[in-house]
Amino acid sequence: MNTNTFEKDVLTGLQSNPKRLYSKYFYDDKGSAIFQQIMHMPEYYLPGCETEILRLRAKDIIRKLPHKSYDVIELGAGDGSKTALFLDPLVREKEKLTYIPLDISPEILSVNEKIMEEKLPGLCVKPIAGDYFETLKNISSGKNPKIILFLGSNIGNFEGEKALDFIRFVKSFMRKGDHLMLGVDLKKHPRTILAAYDDPAGITKKFNINLLERINRELKGNFITAEFDHYASYDPLSGATKSFLISKAAQEVRVAGQTITFHPYEPIHMEISQKYSLQDLDQIRLKAGFKKDHHFTDSKAYFSISLFEV
Ligand code: TRP
Repeated sequence: MNTNTFEKDVLTGLQSNPKRLYSKYFYDDKGSAIFQQIMHMPEYYLPGCETEILRLRAKDIIRKLPHKSYDVIELGAGDGSKTALFLDPLVREKEKLTYIPLDISPEILSVNEKIMEEKLPGLCVKPIAGDYFETLKNISSGKNPKIILFLGSNIGNFEGEKALDFIRFVKSFMRKGDHLMLGVDLKKHPRTILAAYDDPAGITKKFNINLLERINRELKGNFITAEFDHYASYDPLSGATKSFLISKAAQEVRVAGQTITFHPYEPIHMEISQKYSLQDLDQIRLKAGFKKDHHFTDSKAYFSISLFEV
């Protein structure tokens, strides 16, 4: 990650009103380790639900994918261990399958390749490292029908209309018969959602505070992290879950040679995680111009894997 971009984004965000920091900067080595703890929290139901769908509904999903060969392109693939659950039965059903994981991190892509080699020997894997806004362009010329995977509720990181813009952008690389497969966290009891982003053990707080510590480490910041508290909210009308850090007092903080002034209880908006209903998803599918959709949910209907067909 370019330090200059990090510095520019942090300063711009902290000099805005309301103050804002971007969640893509949460994931330095320490942040990634804390996120692994979040993934294992009992309150954080998302990975378990998505895994259940991939395990139990894969056959039903595959029934909606009629072609004999596919290029499976995964956006923000990570280590791909969850994806393997879906690729395993898919490989058995299809004559030819190419898996193309896209990720910003070349290191995680080599882990991905190893995992696939272990779990699905013989699968053709063609990783592409880089920002998927750029690398998606490379795969659009392929001859085989495409399945584009965007799992892990990643679509929830886009604020408001930006999710629709993103889906339209992805669709611009797709042809008739291609499928977009989205992992989406659904609207549910507000307390269930809130608990996932406001755990009593304080792991989510630690995750947010780590970004201030990263700013201290990398941008010559002097945040006193004990002067900030974590606050999470969920709005059942909009479906937006938000994470904030709240300045407990009036204070001044130095970052990269600049002074940032905080009023008492002033928030820094850290993260948005948008939740959708199946009706919301139908609307998005229509607005983006896909022909059909199918939703596959877990037994509690907390999460959906939704297929949009061009
Ligand atoms: N964005 C992811 C999600 O919505 C990861 C995440 C979980 C997260 N808890 C968080 C990001 C708290 C920032 C703050 O599930």
